[in-house]
Amino acid sequence: MKICVMGTGYVGLVAGTCFAENGSDVICVDVNKDKIDGLNRGQIPIYEPGLTDLVTRNTREGRLAFTTDGPAAIRKSDIIFLAIGTPSSVDGSADLSMFLKAAEVIADNLNGYKIIVNKSTVPVGTAAKVEKLVKGRTKQDFDVVSNPEFLKEGTAIDDFLKPDRVVIGTAKESVYKTMAQLYAPFVRQGNPIIWMSNVSAEITKYAANSFLATKISFINEIANLCELAGADIESVRKGITTDVRIGKHFLYRGAGYGGSCFPKDVKALLKTGQEHGLKLEIIEAAEDVNERQKSVLFHKIDRHFDRDLKGRTIAVWGLSFKPNTDDMREAPSVVIIEKLCKAGARIHAYDPVAVKEARHHIPKDLPVTYFENMYEAIKGADALAVVTEWNEFRNPDFARVKSLLKHPVVFDGRNVYSPERMQELGFTYQAIGRQVGGPDRRSR
Ligand SMILES: NC(=O)c1ccc[n+]([C@@H]2O[C@H](COP(=O)([O-])OP(=O)(O)OC[C@H]3O[C@@H](n4cnc5c(N)ncnc54)[C@H](O)[C@@H]3O)[C@@H](O)[C@H]2O)c1
Repeated sequence: MKICVMGTGYVGLVAGTCFAENGSDVICVDVNKDKIDGLNRGQIPIYEPGLTDLVTRNTREGRLAFTTDGPAAIRKSDIIFLAIGTPSSVDGSADLSMFLKAAEVIADNLNGYKIIVNKSTVPVGTAAKVEKLVKGRTKQDFDVVSNPEFLKEGTAIDDFLKPDRVVIGTAKESVYKTMAQLYAPFVRQGNPIIWMSNVSAEITKYAANSFLATKISFINEIANLCELAGADIESVRKGITTDVRIGKHFLYRGAGYGGSCFPKDVKALLKTGQEHGLKLEIIEAAEDVNERQKSVLFHKIDRHFDRDLKGRTIAVWGLSFKPNTDDMREAPSVVIIEKLCKAGARIHAYDPVAVKEARHHIPKDLPVTYFENMYEAIKGADALAVVTEWNEFRNPDFARVKSLLKHPVVFDGRNVYSPERMQELGFTYQAIGRQVGGPDRRSR
């Protein structure tokens, strides 16, 4: 099948590459000329494990191409994916302006029947909106499918090549069958392709992300209670997640959720609820809890230094919103760093891959120095704060950490270290929802 992917970002580049990997001819389109020129020189614009090899191989073998010429790519293709950013508007709703602009380009270049696929996360009613828009600009026949994407940055290739499920929203059986044929190589192990209406597919994506965000806020709220009540969130987590009805995934406490999806999708679903006269109270609470959670680590640091951070240097390990990505969108590190700086601290920041992106997201006028080595970043700092749990932070040379820090103080925003070990090593250590030397010692 000949495929065009409009938007060559995290989703479009991964989707296009994986379709090519499974035998389709794919042209990825973007309006960002630098990005496309870079890709044509073999430069991958994002950090995503495994992506470079796949892009290189599929480009070399002639199944994958990159262009800024959307019209030509559309005319050559049978199926056109829209993988354009849908960021939050000021009122919290999804901003569809870039997405609809790309839909106009598709409409104006239809030269025969084609399937238009909404891969972006878009609110309920968007497939109908796209259908109306395209119908108003062309006499050609077409169908609009809602096919939300569930990949996770950091494991995007694996998620796309072996999805837990594929959701296809369309009223037409013939369209469903074409889409199912396209996805057949991805579900060889028997994972389902789920056929539903456009609107159900649109809500499925927002419901999935809002549920996951709610899980994070739930465990963070319990972690905060554990801390006050003298309990240990890690024991409590094990205690509850062994219940199969609860499950062991995605219940990890921390500095709050971030990233390009959860914050904006939660906001957009709340807005959709409002538009239908429905207050989505659980989801609203998940968002409120998350906003508070982003400040928890800052308050711990501030309290430790008797609310006087002037002249202090805090080393921050981990800037991206989660490990294995360079994505800085809505990263909790930005909030924590801004609060620390506002309170008078200077920051020594380190991240294995996200420093370049971080420079665009952390205000330039803040006293932040970026380092290329995790140990360099802690040299002479008053304390270390671990904000993102990259694997390389899990077992550092603690003797070196201790000797480089001015004071052996560690704030662990992701509970990567054992409180007992840190105490034995002579660190003053604070984590989320845990006690140092508390009654749960033996269970760790
Ligand atoms: N990033 C994720 O983990 C993820 C996962 C699932 C779903 N989604 C959803 O997928 C969509 C895309 O997200 P992303 O993270 O890939 O965004 P992104 O910002 O990384 O990429 C979007 C790309 O679209 C390009 N673009 C904008 N207007 C265009 C146009 N008219 N024609 C061609 N290209 C155009 C931009 O230049 C950019 O490169 C969003 O709706 C998002 O919510 C994202």
